[in-house]
Amino acid sequence: MTNRATTASAPGKIILFGEHAVVYGRPALAVPVTQVQAVCRVQDVSAQAGVLIVAPDVNRRYRLDRASPDDPLAAAVRGALAALNVSSHPGLTLTVRSTIPIACGLGSGAAIATAIVRALAQHLKHPLPPAAVSDVVFEVEKIHHGTPSGIDNSVVAFARPIFFQKNSPIEPLAVGAPLTLVIGDTGVTSPTYKVVGDLRRRWQAEPGRYESYFDRMGRIALRARRAVERGDVAGVGQCMVDNHALLQEIGVSSTELDGLVKAAHGAGAAGAKLSGAGWGGNMIALAPPGRAEEVAGALRGAGAAGVIITVVR
Ligand code: PMV
Repeated sequence: MTNRATTASAPGKIILFGEHAVVYGRPALAVPVTQVQAVCRVQDVSAQAGVLIVAPDVNRRYRLDRASPDDPLAAAVRGALAALNVSSHPGLTLTVRSTIPIACGLGSGAAIATAIVRALAQHLKHPLPPAAVSDVVFEVEKIHHGTPSGIDNSVVAFARPIFFQKNSPIEPLAVGAPLTLVIGDTGVTSPTYKVVGDLRRRWQAEPGRYESYFDRMGRIALRARRAVERGDVAGVGQCMVDNHALLQEIGVSSTELDGLVKAAHGAGAAGAKLSGAGWGGNMIALAPPGRAEEVAGALRGAGAAGVIITVVR
């Protein structure tokens, strides 16, 4: 009867098209990355009152009722318990682990929060649909990001490729032919809120100029959606090239990101772009069938701190 345990996980993610413009209401595409994962184990501990949060990766162990309001793990637990409408529960220990690198555009915060919400929902025998999980995680994302668009929590909670636009229902993205993506990590951490905040100041100073960039990014996302649905790898690749050029123009790329993008093209990638907030973090390259290892090798050779190959289906 005691020590019953439940484990749930959530994948990382990358944004394929439309980062930043999505904050300003334009459409964007994102996909889960299952090669990296956050995992939460919830265990009944009859001898203990309340909730104990254990995060071995960062050497932390603390009680929920002592956690500060801006502690993201505690916020996920509080949000989940509120969504589940649970007023009393047995003593619980939550152990949270993640293989998703932090602050590099792979959705680590959203995945950790999603794993927590899913594990608690299953453990307390009150499964939540993905949209409800996503809503809880969105509130947690505000602690990390300030003004998140909602794309990270959506793609991680739905755990499938999505077409996303703020204030619209999530649309699943049909993938006409598998897309082999090679994700290259610059090794430079870059907190999303800083890049988003800097861009917001520039948008406030010159709204017309930035709105026009965002319109063009939105049109690329729509074009890319059709290319993904048709299985047109060359078309998707060209959309990546066009999107990266605009991301450079709005000032969110970096020498490291541009270097990896160039290396990917040198190895025959059909397209490459930065992914996520920029200034660091990850870039993605689209490898033609059978060429993923070559592109991965080129990224490593150009200084990538880590490389992940993932196939979007
Ligand atoms: O968390 P990241 O680095 O993938 O960035 C999120 C994407 C942005 O569009 C820059 C911000 C947002 O909230 O959508």
